[in-house]
Amino acid sequence: MFTKSGIAALVALSLSAGGAWAAGGEGHIEDVAFSFEGPFGKFDQNQLQRGLKVYTQVCAACHGLQYVPLRTLGDEGGPHLPEDQVRAYAAQFEVFDAELDDFRPAVPTDHFPKSGLETAPDLSLMAKKRAGFHGPAGTGLSQLFNGMGGAEYIYSLMVGYHEPPACAPEDFEGSYNAAFTAGGYPEECKDENGHPTVPGSWISMAQPLWGDDVEYDDGTEATLEQQAEDVAAFLMWTAEPKMMARKHAGLTGVIFLTVLSVLLYLTNKRIWAPIKGRKSH
Ligand code: HEC
Repeated sequence: MFTKSGIAALVALSLSAGGAWAAGGEGHIEDVAFSFEGPFGKFDQNQLQRGLKVYTQVCAACHGLQYVPLRTLGDEGGPHLPEDQVRAYAAQFEVFDAELDDFRPAVPTDHFPKSGLETAPDLSLMAKKRAGFHGPAGTGLSQLFNGMGGAEYIYSLMVGYHEPPACAPEDFEGSYNAAFTAGGYPEECKDENGHPTVPGSWISMAQPLWGDDVEYDDGTEATLEQQAEDVAAFLMWTAEPKMMARKHAGLTGVIFLTVLSVLLYLTNKRIWAPIKGRKSH
């Protein structure tokens, strides 16, 4: 039997995700309803294609995706580009071929290039590295229903550039970003214990998206928020291209275990029924 506290714990577990917070020193994370959240969530093919465009035309100037094979752009469940488009896309990059001892245009079996700017981190797995920003990580249930938060973080980073808070001196280096917590703070924005008094921190990446940075082929309006959402979804896909398969397996497991638990409970009741039901004389 479920005890009252057991039920309370379950409810707490399922409610433990979401909520906005922006205390000093913490990042401000926006909640976005991505298509791939939830047990039946899926990547939106059109969104991934738009995100690819934003990555290619804006982010790729500095950031690489060196762990992502170009051919996966043609995968079903991913951007699902036709084969000729994958080939044409690959051909715009140059790779060094050790056999030829020279550079040649990339082919689909090559990977995306590495970061061109040394201080810009590779983005292949960034959405997973920054996961867990969305509620407590590790409950499993929260991740199944709300996603892992990595895409939310990237979205929030893109829209998190604001005027620096009043405490900061004007010449403080970097750009103020309300979602970024790994950067520096001016002394003036710390309390007596050295803790930051403002959310976010200063980042060395200048604001990359402003709105209308790209022109979408499907007619979608390229607002700042739209581009941020699309590139975040695309980077979630690069970090976890098999998310849908994993979700299906996870959900099957949950259903299987639920059915098994009910059967075991009923079996147990039945086995003990003659003994428990016996009246003592
Ligand atoms: C002009 C170069 C440049 C461009 C263009 C650029 N970035 Fe960056 N990016 C950087 C640098 C440099 C850093 C490291 C910042 C730091 O640690 O202070 C960075 C860091 C990041 C991070 C990691 C933040 C963290 O939590 O550590 C993400 C995510 C990111 N960029 C995403 C993007 C996306 C998405 C785009 C395209 C829309 C983009 N960047 C465009 C230079 C760039």
